[in-house]
Amino acid sequence: METLGLVSVAVTLFYMLLGERMVNMRKMYLASREPVKNHLLNCALLKNLDNGSEDITVFGDGLAFISNGLKYPGVSSSDAPGKIFLFDLKASAMGPVELPISGNIDLETFNPHGISVYTHPTNGTVYLFVVNHPHHKSQVELFEFVERGSSLLHRKTFKHKLLHSVNDIVALGVDRFYATNDHYFSDAVMKITVEPLLGQPLTNVVYYSPEMVKVVSNGYYFANGINISPDKRHVYVTDITAHNIHVLERKEDNELTTIKSIALGSLCDNIEVDPKTGDLWLGCHINLMRMFYFDPENPPGSEVVRIQNILSEEPVVTQVYADDGHVIMGSSVATIYGGKLLIGTVFHKALCCDLE
Ligand SMILES: *[C@@H]1O[C@H](CO)[C@@H](O)[C@H](O)[C@H]1NC(C)=O
Ligand SMILES: *[C@@H]1O[C@H](CO)[C@@H](O)[C@H](O)[C@H]1NC(C)=O
Repeated sequence: METLGLVSVAVTLFYMLLGERMVNMRKMYLASREPVKNHLLNCALLKNLDNGSEDITVFGDGLAFISNGLKYPGVSSSDAPGKIFLFDLKASAMGPVELPISGNIDLETFNPHGISVYTHPTNGTVYLFVVNHPHHKSQVELFEFVERGSSLLHRKTFKHKLLHSVNDIVALGVDRFYATNDHYFSDAVMKITVEPLLGQPLTNVVYYSPEMVKVVSNGYYFANGINISPDKRHVYVTDITAHNIHVLERKEDNELTTIKSIALGSLCDNIEVDPKTGDLWLGCHINLMRMFYFDPENPPGSEVVRIQNILSEEPVVTQVYADDGHVIMGSSVATIYGGKLLIGTVFHKALCCDLE
């Protein structure tokens, strides 16, 4: 009798704890947040691009690399292997084109996620860094952009035990970068079951170089996008399920110290930085529950947020675009060039709008 009593108390406590953890997870995912619409006048979906545009980076004179076909634990995706597209924002009606890839890389398991461009300061060679998840593992690929004939030449793969669940990177040189780990666990099943229920700040930012690989910042619930200020002195990291962005200062040894975090009230993913103004453009999710439990009847919406004067006492956070998911679902990145706003998504299409 007594043992039975203890067992039922234990079972009851377990369910209470589980219930409490589920309520916490729903808060982190903004599960009750209703999609909203805040449209721009002139928008068009990009041609020939289904199956996602998770990260986008503009380089040179209005060209953009787009990572496509991400397969991410718990999120809807296509069966087709991932690809990299090139898009010319000066000729947006043309649509993006797939870049042929050569070199020693398995294209069948190519699963591109966060990307970053590094332009060689003396000879102008454009390098593309790509977070890749073959078989749900994490590694970083380095490509050289061959402008003649427009293709990518695979140069190198970076692997390290600290690069265990990489989401995004920002390149610092041809052989060095900062990377975010978005989960504590590396195993795909643990990532979508135990970790969201734990809901603890167990993720981090890693510095990678040939001389040294180290954790340089930690305490994020779900570290996601990362980017750097035009003067390279500050680094920005979104903590998607904490609904904020961290502003960090770079130290001599590439350590990062947090200056502040800014509440965003949204689930912000990748960060792009306007090289002229230093403004930040964020692709955000309105409701992560709708991302993880995809239902076409209640699609995940999209939201674009701009942050101006981020280093000042009073940064200005503005919602520039929002959609309820009937135009564009699950925005993960936003970037600008020449009066145009380009919005990418985890598994859907990409949208190009006139800002004015
Ligand atoms: C998108 O993925 C589907 C398979 O899930 C595939 O049939 C289709 O060709 C892909 N579209 C593009 C443009 O890659
Ligand atoms: C630019 O410099 C890098 C590193 O020194 C080299 O690997 C690359 O081939 C150079 N590119 C051109 C176009 O000269």
